Amino acid sequence: MTSTMARVDKYSAASNYPTKNKKLIEWVEKAVALCKPDQVYWCNGTEEEYDKLCAELVDQGTLIKLNPEKRPNSYLARSNQSDVARVEDKTFVCTEAEIDAGPNNNWMAPAEMQSKLNQLFDGCMKGRTMYVVPFSMGPYGSRLSHIGVEITDSAYVAVSMKVMTRMGQQALDTLGVDGQFVPCMHTVGMPLAEGQKDVAWPCNDEEKYIVHFPETREIWSYGSGYGGNALLGKKCFALRIASNIARDEGWLAEHMLILGIESPQGEKKYVAAAFPSACGKTNLAMMIPPSSMKGWKVTTVGDDIAWIKPGQDGKLYAINPEYGYFGVAPGTSDKTNPNAMKTLAKNCIFTNVALTPDGDVWWEGMTKEAPAKLIDWTGQEWTPDCGRDAAHANARFTAPAAQCPSLDEKWEDVEGVPISAFIFGGRRANTVPLVVESTDWETGVYMASTMGSETTAAAVGAVGQVRRDPFAMKPFCGYNMGDYFDHWLSINDKVTQSPKIYCVNWFRTNEDGKFAWPGFGENMRVLKWIFERVSGKAEAVETKLGKSPRFEDLDWTGLEFSKEEFDCVMTVCDKEWQTEILSHEEHFEMLGERLPEGLVEKKEAFSKSFKK
Ligand code: GTP
Ligand code: SPV
Ligand code: MN
Repeated sequence: MTSTMARVDKYSAASNYPTKNKKLIEWVEKAVALCKPDQVYWCNGTEEEYDKLCAELVDQGTLIKLNPEKRPNSYLARSNQSDVARVEDKTFVCTEAEIDAGPNNNWMAPAEMQSKLNQLFDGCMKGRTMYVVPFSMGPYGSRLSHIGVEITDSAYVAVSMKVMTRMGQQALDTLGVDGQFVPCMHTVGMPLAEGQKDVAWPCNDEEKYIVHFPETREIWSYGSGYGGNALLGKKCFALRIASNIARDEGWLAEHMLILGIESPQGEKKYVAAAFPSACGKTNLAMMIPPSSMKGWKVTTVGDDIAWIKPGQDGKLYAINPEYGYFGVAPGTSDKTNPNAMKTLAKNCIFTNVALTPDGDVWWEGMTKEAPAKLIDWTGQEWTPDCGRDAAHANARFTAPAAQCPSLDEKWEDVEGVPISAFIFGGRRANTVPLVVESTDWETGVYMASTMGSETTAAAVGAVGQVRRDPFAMKPFCGYNMGDYFDHWLSINDKVTQSPKIYCVNWFRTNEDGKFAWPGFGENMRVLKWIFERVSGKAEAVETKLGKSPRFEDLDWTGLEFSKEEFDCVMTVCDKEWQTEILSHEEHFEMLGERLPEGLVEKKEAFSKSFKK
């Protein structure tokens, strides 16, 4: 450890702290006493610091430096094979009353959980450095932004937080002497005994706990170093804790991308869209419209999380609280998402992708043909015929948002961007049509609250099973889902120009089991229709689900897609919907007593209409 890094030992005098915030100093000192690290290091967020920490991670074997000619200033990390995704069954929301966490969350009484955590965290950083990582979710100076401080014993987490958030001294300066912050405690849960050699990816195979205390606005994460389990600004803070703050203050914290659509006439509108994990947010946020749709442009504000507040003009305004993208690598290519590929050209950290012989990265779907030889995500030699995936299905890139070629000019606007439409989409092989517009706000909330989607590799567990994922927030809503629906219903009263609500499904399959809709850039045809609907220009017809485009209402220039194919992706089958509504009913029963009455009535009405 070099002296320029200003590491201080645990007995350092308070005058050495880069902050005068009393609460923060007290919290850090308490954490030091509990976790017993060898040393404490306060991150300042500089490039110099990032380079040094990365160099140390290379020495330690956690990071591999990629070939600077192919991928400048970029690194590859390979995780422990047991630590590859979010652990939903180990994720807890600890409220005093169990009902406040709701049946959508795992719950334990706060005192009981705290005593368990105190045991787990006691001495958990022995032999390691404690990093204190101050960060802002949202641009500095925005009324929508919030400060967090993550304490972690993982330098990989510290450098990832530099890419994913606005991290460093400015967060401490913003905090000042008495500012509020969300304390985020993180440990990989693998203390080192005297002389014990470290491993490349420390974590705890036996115990993992991702814990939220919404009432005291605290996060404690134990045992994992991966993604949303460990980069606590993201799902833990910006969704689970922020959804609680948002409910109390009258705004929304959502699992949504934000994008801008510009028409050939130069008119601009913004939409926010919720899709479950690994269901196409990054792709849609960065999409390039087909060249045949001359003059249409899509710009990127955010790819995963939106904080949305009513503005004084009666519209809803959204910011992206993040500073980088933590995106799914497999399937990302020059064909499916060229803007993402350009974003990944440099300054990235890749996790669990494959390594090429010339020191670059590769993953399934990046190129049509796989390279003849690779080192796979587990570190083993790999050939195309070996029968294993080269990259893990939830392999991810960590990339600075500013590198995205389609970045919207207002992506850091402190006021946010005005939202004209909300889009909700699941991954459904059948039942749900390509697009439908809700007749009104309450019906839209009903559709979003009953959304189903096939599970993906973004969470540990079975993949491909349809589960209800309301608002794409099932794993991220930090309080009772019934209260959350109620909150969404109430937002309509806080604005005069509420966005229209749409449901989409890019994932419908045909008889051969192939995707029936071309998707990716071609989704622009649906976005254009939505743009024109909110401008009052496009036609729609009434269907049992809401308002839908006819074949002639979508722009098909440059795409061969027949009326028959369109009917196939638009079909609303009564029989399928009878089954679907039964599943909504089970879902509502599971959510129980806090469910808004209005939504139950909506269900009854839909149920009747599909029996006719
Ligand atoms: P998280 O980061 O986990 O929240 O997910 P995300 O919603 O940002 O996921 P992402 O955009 O990375 O989605 C990745 C997966 O969706 C890949 O398997 C893509 O191939 C697939 N995908 C994205 N857009 C489309 C589409 O329009 N059609 C089809 N068929 N697949 C798509
Ligand atoms: C998701 O799973 O929705 C993600 C990735 O965006 S993670 O940060 O790991 O939660
Ligand atoms: Mn996500």
